[in-house]
Amino acid sequence: MNIRSHHDAARHIYNEFYLGQVRMATFKVVHRLRIADLLKEGPMTIEELAAATNTHETSLHRIMVTAHQMGLFQMYTDNKTFSLTMISDLMTIDHPMSMHGLIEFTCEEYMEKSLDLIHTTVSTGVPSFTKATPSGEDFYQYLRNDSEKGSTFDSAMTCMDTTVSPLLAQVCDFVDVKSIVDLGGGSGNSVLHILSQNENVTSGTVADMTVVIEDSKTEKRRKARTRRFGDAVCNKINYTPCDLFKKDEWKGLPTADAYMLKNILHDWSDNECDDLLSNVVRKMEGDATKRLLVVEKIVIQEDVQPHKAGHDIVKLIFFKEESTHRSFENFEKIFQRNGLKLTNITPLGDTDYYVFEGRLGTNCQNEAALSCFSMANRLLNVGSPLPGAESVDL
Ligand SMILES: C[S@@+](CC[C@H](N)C(=O)[O-])C[C@H]1O[C@@H](n2cnc3c(N)ncnc32)[C@H](O)[C@@H]1O
Repeated sequence: MNIRSHHDAARHIYNEFYLGQVRMATFKVVHRLRIADLLKEGPMTIEELAAATNTHETSLHRIMVTAHQMGLFQMYTDNKTFSLTMISDLMTIDHPMSMHGLIEFTCEEYMEKSLDLIHTTVSTGVPSFTKATPSGEDFYQYLRNDSEKGSTFDSAMTCMDTTVSPLLAQVCDFVDVKSIVDLGGGSGNSVLHILSQNENVTSGTVADMTVVIEDSKTEKRRKARTRRFGDAVCNKINYTPCDLFKKDEWKGLPTADAYMLKNILHDWSDNECDDLLSNVVRKMEGDATKRLLVVEKIVIQEDVQPHKAGHDIVKLIFFKEESTHRSFENFEKIFQRNGLKLTNITPLGDTDYYVFEGRLGTNCQNEAALSCFSMANRLLNVGSPLPGAESVDL
């Protein structure tokens, strides 16, 4: 954004916010008509596309020309034949790096309504999501009761994880880890990356809500992960239903060398995080060799680039007030409150993600505070290390 005058500012408002919403609507209609999947086999004329989508040809043409201007499709010199670009390649459903799941999530009615009703959250502090659905349930309860929506959400999470899990598997030290349980691990993308890059990790368990586990066990999901990671890796993964907030259900989980909470704590309040961590600590059975890996984004508010702004608003409309991205200091406090010593912080390349490693035990308070703050400062001062990033022992 290079705004040097009020003319630039006026153009910016027009282009980004007025036309921005129009471009979003164009993107969504193209997605809903599955145009990208239709073009997978090769270029098509507008007549062919209109016939295949049962739409009004001249209207569809105007949509396609705009989508071409947005970079979604190539338009041939006849102005009526279209083909895929790299962007629409990833809108197709079965590309290995498909973003289809994330786009479906973006198009969910509850997402659109929650965003529309954002003013109610601003007035009351209550997540607009609870007003966007007839039942008024909280977000995960809603997904628990609707397997299709749960599956779409899970696919969206996997789409958003194209960089973080491969880096996690590469950069984090799993040398002493033979077994790992990923708590709230969704369809198992992170565990699959860890298993595929670390031969000594021989068993990975994904624990999640029953509806997510059932979805992960379907033939469609099984085939997709076998295609991507191969039989040898997929044979090492297990899926176990567990409500992480129900102590009794933890009995069904295997004991492991490492427990992971990736992208979990930011959805919950401090009290709920304490409930989760106390369950993990109980599962560690007093063994200080076992570790907890919390993988979370650290958002330094002043550093967010404008085109990346918005993560926090998704939390605001879906979850309770306290659920947000936390600071280094917050993580250390949460660990300490639950009898865990923060033993290592590893940045994951330039992703803003960090791995917080905890083991049973407590730092003396001053030592912990000092080490965490000097650590955080070092990480921030060195900027964003590249893959193979430094890991600093506390
Ligand atoms: C933001 S997603 C993160 C998924 C995955 N760990 C990742 O990094 O992509 C949160 C996950 O927590 C799971 N979850 C939410 N509430 C849960 C509960 N009470 N018990 C178990 N899992 C839960 C959701 O189903 C979802 O898979």
